[in-house]
Amino acid sequence: TDVTFILRDGSRRTLDIAEGTSVMQAAVMENLKGIDGECGGCLSCATCHVYVEAIGTGALPPMDEEENALLDGVAAERRPESRLSCQILATPGLSGLVLRVPERQV
Ligand code: FES
Repeated sequence: TDVTFILRDGSRRTLDIAEGTSVMQAAVMENLKGIDGECGGCLSCATCHVYVEAIGTGALPPMDEEENALLDGVAAERRPESRLSCQILATPGLSGLVLRVPERQV
């Protein structure tokens, strides 16, 4: 599943993420600057915040209550396209997803 990140300096990086792996995990494993994922994906840190710029062919997994609540506490501005990347698991339909890294996570 190809997911592209727009980094803070404007450059783009595309990762091929294995099915079932969260976008946050993949970004952290690749040392992608701007995605911290401090809680390891257990929905308590909000340092995996991203802005969805473009979706792939499939829909994103819906946002649950907990993610919605945690997004109110993100360090950067919350926008309508804000998501927590630990809640987005790679599926073949997500290929083509483009995510923008926010200016800060803490
Ligand atoms: Fe902590 Fe996503 S990694 S909320």
